[in-house]
Amino acid sequence: MTAIDKAALHESGALDVAAIRCDFPILELDVNGRRLVFLDNAASSQMPRQVMDRILRYQTSEHANIHRAVHYLSEKATAEYEAARHKAKVFLNAREEREIIFTSGTTDGINLVAHGFGRKFLGEGDEIILTTLEHHSNIVPWQMVAQEKGAKLRVVPIDDRGELMLDEYRKLFTDRTKLVAMTHVSNALGTINPVKDMIAAAHAHGVPVLVDGAQAAPHMPVDVQDLDCDFYAFSGHKVCGPTGIGVLYGKAALLEKMQPFKGGGDMILSVTFEKTTYNTIPHKFEAGTPPIMPAIALGAAIDYITGVGIDAIASHETDLLSYATERVNAMSGVRIIGTAERKAAVLSFAVEGVHPHDVGTLLNEEGVAIRTGHHCAQPVMQHFKVPATCRASFAFYNTHDEVDALVEAIKKVQKVFT
Ligand SMILES: Cc1ncc(COP(=O)(O)O)c(C=O)c1O
Repeated sequence: MTAIDKAALHESGALDVAAIRCDFPILELDVNGRRLVFLDNAASSQMPRQVMDRILRYQTSEHANIHRAVHYLSEKATAEYEAARHKAKVFLNAREEREIIFTSGTTDGINLVAHGFGRKFLGEGDEIILTTLEHHSNIVPWQMVAQEKGAKLRVVPIDDRGELMLDEYRKLFTDRTKLVAMTHVSNALGTINPVKDMIAAAHAHGVPVLVDGAQAAPHMPVDVQDLDCDFYAFSGHKVCGPTGIGVLYGKAALLEKMQPFKGGGDMILSVTFEKTTYNTIPHKFEAGTPPIMPAIALGAAIDYITGVGIDAIASHETDLLSYATERVNAMSGVRIIGTAERKAAVLSFAVEGVHPHDVGTLLNEEGVAIRTGHHCAQPVMQHFKVPATCRASFAFYNTHDEVDALVEAIKKVQKVFT
């Protein structure tokens, strides 16, 4: 019986983390003679047995190409692929399945909008608003399309806590603003942006909004109807699913007006050498054989996370983050970077006199996996005038003991360098 079968909650309503951890075989690994302490979840989270079992079931009894044949396996695989789309629709509270496009990840989803929306609707002198907190995935595609179209990027600044300066945001709108693209949660600092208010402000100017949800979807309930965002992208591998799959939500009316990003099979209704008629949404944006198994596995990951309870996940991680913040704040010679009032699951820090890469390497010797570097968010590093940070990022299967292990390992680093 698995943790989820047993309902992974204590009677108090708190997560039964010990039971949950039984679902994640990788957490049993020893690394350098120590039990693995995996605190690199913002880069990619781990996969529970239930998702692995689903992959095995698909590969052993359901696999065939979809949408193309009338035989048993093709119909089965098609039904399971479309069932996964339904799960993603419910997970995001989208209105309709056709608003859910399977992509290869957040980056792919953003590129789809940059090409499908940007190349069609942007012109010379138009403006796109981004924020300083963006991951490179939500900067570079816009730079590429802006260069091609002669459009300009306008950037919302942050303050020294790592919060967006909302008064500056409101001042950036002009009659040339065509889109806002912003992250829900900063991967480098953990800042939770007030996206709902920011979307309302953009809509007051008639401007659509894309939200990069890569760091939000794993940690908090997301309701695209309540947010009223026009696009929302997230990655499967950050919500306990496999790599190579992601979801782009888009409002149907906008998706219908956009041009396809990729051409090929499945995205067409008819083709002659003179003219192609495109398929209806979402298929218009899913050219070629899609990632069938990863999509079905993502559906299983969504089932798993929903089974644990996204509210319970959010509350456990908030508790872990505040415990970690308190413990790290109490250390001398360690500075937390990013102290926004509302944060999710990320603790970025610097150890005085030690390069982040050395911190990461020495922590690895203690079995503690964190990430060091610019986290694909160089504008954030530039704001804080650091080349890199150390980043511990939490998931619902992490424990207070693992936070203690992190703190003890940092103390060892400090000893080595004194
Ligand atoms: C905020 C944010 N956006 C986008 C991405 C890119 O996600 P992917 O590499 O899965 O496409 C990441 C990955 O770390 C991220 O944290």
